[in-house]
Amino acid sequence: MNNENKIYKPNFKCFESYQQASDFVGKIIVDLVNQKPNAVLGLATGDTPLGVYSFLVKAYEKKEVSFKNVKTFNLDEYVELKSIYKDQSYAFFMSHNLFSKVDINLKNTFFPNKSEDKLDLNKKDYSEYDKEIEKTKLDFQILGIGQNGHIGFNEPGTSLESKTRLVPLTDSTIKANSRFFASENDVPKYAVTMGIQTILANSKQIVLLAFGKNKKEALKALVNNKSFNKDWPCTALLLHPNVTIVCDKEANPL
Ligand code: PGA
Repeated sequence: MNNENKIYKPNFKCFESYQQASDFVGKIIVDLVNQKPNAVLGLATGDTPLGVYSFLVKAYEKKEVSFKNVKTFNLDEYVELKSIYKDQSYAFFMSHNLFSKVDINLKNTFFPNKSEDKLDLNKKDYSEYDKEIEKTKLDFQILGIGQNGHIGFNEPGTSLESKTRLVPLTDSTIKANSRFFASENDVPKYAVTMGIQTILANSKQIVLLAFGKNKKEALKALVNNKSFNKDWPCTALLLHPNVTIVCDKEANPL
């Protein structure tokens, strides 16, 4: 990564509500795609970006934008998801909340693996995904944030050099995600995630979304740290020159 030690100050935009914040980000994406119809988007899953995706669907329905030539790369995907939970895969999430509702060509939507892939701890090479991303770059990367400061599934302790790879999920992430499963035991223990390096080196613009009081501590870490702190992976964003943090008033750390 260039300028590895240079620290930038992220922009902060805090809104009264989730809706206002989501509309703000949705509009940036619509404008980008209208300017560059073959834009490449890095996408996230979880509750956080749902409002943005619903803005995009509405804009498409009103014929204000077309995703026909857009390419997308999702941040992460579970590994070895039990078949009864296939609607918890991130591919399903994207299809349900965005892809099936707009005119995107599914051949242009990419994930780092298939959720039902068998866990193979010996498989170390996920470099194809990075190579594809390096080739096209990401015009716009949307990120959520974990309560523990993770971005994608880059959990505390992740290095700045990390690339797309298989990762074990931390107890805190398994607990947070257990709300979608019958029990914590059913939550997959591994995922494949873009690495911190993948995100920082290839994104032209990053918008990190954080909503609700549970995210405030992680955003505080981003404000209070003056350089990358491994305990809070989100602080890697201090090394990128074009980051905007979009939050609601409950998550506002300022
Ligand atoms: P959430 O997850 O959007 O469901 O809160 C965000 C994340 O863990 O990155």
